[in-house]
Order: sequence, then structure tokens, then C-alpha cells
Amino acid sequence: MSKKPTILVTRKLPANVEARLLRDYDARLNADDRLYTSAELLDLSQDTDALLPCHTEHLNAALIAQLPDRIRAIANFSVGVDHCDLEAAGQRGIIVTNTPDVLTDATAELTLLLILGAARRASEGERLIRAGAWNTWSPSFMLGTQVTGKRLGIIGMGRIGQVTALRARGFDMEVHYHNRRRLPRSQEHGAIYHDTLESLLPQAEFLALHCPNTPQTQNLFNRAVIEQLPQGAIVVNSARGNIVDEDALLAALRSGRIAAAGLDVFKDEPHIRSEFAELDNVFLLPHLGSATRETRDAMGFRALDNLDAVFAGREPGDRVA
Ligand code: 8YV
Repeated sequence: MSKKPTILVTRKLPANVEARLLRDYDARLNADDRLYTSAELLDLSQDTDALLPCHTEHLNAALIAQLPDRIRAIANFSVGVDHCDLEAAGQRGIIVTNTPDVLTDATAELTLLLILGAARRASEGERLIRAGAWNTWSPSFMLGTQVTGKRLGIIGMGRIGQVTALRARGFDMEVHYHNRRRLPRSQEHGAIYHDTLESLLPQAEFLALHCPNTPQTQNLFNRAVIEQLPQGAIVVNSARGNIVDEDALLAALRSGRIAAAGLDVFKDEPHIRSEFAELDNVFLLPHLGSATRETRDAMGFRALDNLDAVFAGREPGDRVA
């Protein structure tokens, strides 16, 4: 029997996924879920045929250049691949895959949570109760912003943006979007396309960021964008922290130009700027977009389907490089 390919799994994965890994591969697991340094990653990669990393591993060009020649694939446990230099991998002939589709529902679901949490002051109210400080009720107590029937602007109408739009329609929101390309009418479900940000932004009483993190989208949400939003708009980000100019967002939250924000992702996560936690009008979550048991199993299986294809000599379904 030929030797099973060796896979370096950089983080602790769900039990069902690790069971399949151990069944089909010579899997090097990370039982303690310790974050490896780049030097450790390189060291551990020496006798492996493929990597199964998360977005927490920074697979930059320098690291990829030093990977051993026997590495055939990087099967990411993530849909976002901004942590991985695709060009560098391509140059070395390393196949790179991601895990689209399977986390769309979970991430869209969380985006609605951000919208509701930010608009209805959910964490502020919860903190009040937990601090034992809730001692009154009045008609003007902790008023938030109603979500139902409002206009939602979406930047980036890919898979997750489209499902966020569908769910938002459950709240009778009017959906506007900006995307590189207009969707086919059959996929718009009535959403209104804007071919420029300048056209979209004045409509967006709520704004949801769903674009990938690329050199073009870095700090896309900045002061100039904020100035074009309606006064008191609410913004949510479940995509990537890098899309947001955090100085500009903090200033707008302090001044009330932006009424509230719901944030699941941050520039230098998990080291987030302390100013966010000091503001009451921010609903904060620690990168939980895909964090459901169902979705994390499905992400792992999808990454394994991709690896299975590579080692069977087939084209993997989710090849990005
Ligand atoms: C994942 C994500 O939890 O898939 C992505 O791009 O941002 C998250 O939902 C994470 O990336 C796992 O590596």
C-alpha cells in the first residue's frame, strides 16, 4: 500500500474533521491549538506534502518561498485567502484552495446579528444588566434605531452579500448594492444596483461590508466614505478589518456622525484597539462569522475534499491558485 500523504494541520479542527484526516492521511495535528510562529511552521512543513492552515497563519511570499519542494497544496480552512500570497504559491506550482459556500449562511446570519445588535444597543443593554446597574425604565430609556423597513447598502455582493440581502428582506429592508459587476436580474431579488460608491452611500441608512480584503479595498471605508453616508448611519463589518480605516470610524462613532457600528473583524485582531471597547455605540464580536458547529465541520470537510482531489490527481473544486 502506498504511503498516505502527510498533512500539516496548523490549528485544532472539529473532532469529525480530525477523524477523517487521521483516517485518510498521515495528519500532523495541533492538539494544543498553539499558534505557530513562521519559523515553527517552516520547520514543521519540512516533511509534509500539504498544509491545512487557517487565516491565522500568515503565508506571505517569504514563507512560501521557503516551503519545501514536496509541498503540493495549501488547502485553506477559510473562504478569505488574504493571509496567503496566491502569486507566490502559483509561482512555486503549489495549488491553493479555500472553502466557499459552506460558511455563507453562518456569516450572513452573523451580519444580521451585527445589524440588530448595533441598532438596538444590545451589548450596551446587556452590560448594564450584568453590572447590576439597571434601575429604571422610562419611555425614553435606551432608544435605538429601528431596522425594519430601512435602506441597507451592501458593498460586495458575492455569496455572503447576497444571503445577507435575502435575510434583510425578512426585515422589509430595501437593499441597495455596489459590486464590481451587476448581478443577473434573477439574482438581484429586487436589490438596486449602484455602479459607484458615490451613488450607493447616500442611500445607506445601514451599510454592510462584504468585499474581500485586497490592495484595492484596503481602508475602503474611510472618512470620505463616511461623509457620504446619511447622518446617523449604522455600519457593520463581518468581512475583514483591513477594509476599514479604524481612525476614521472611531472619530465618526465619537462624534455621532455614525450612530453605531457592529464589528466582527478588526485590523490587528485579536489585538483590537482599546478605543472600540470604550465606546458604547459599538457592538463587538471576536471574529465569529463562521463559528457554528455545523459550519466549522463543513469547512473542514470542504478543505479535505480539496485535498482528496489534489492527491487523486484531480482538479480541486475550490482552487484559487
Ligand atoms: C474563518 C473567515 O473562521 O473563512 C474566512 O475567511 O473569515 C472565518 O469565518 C477563518 O478564516 C478560519 O480560518
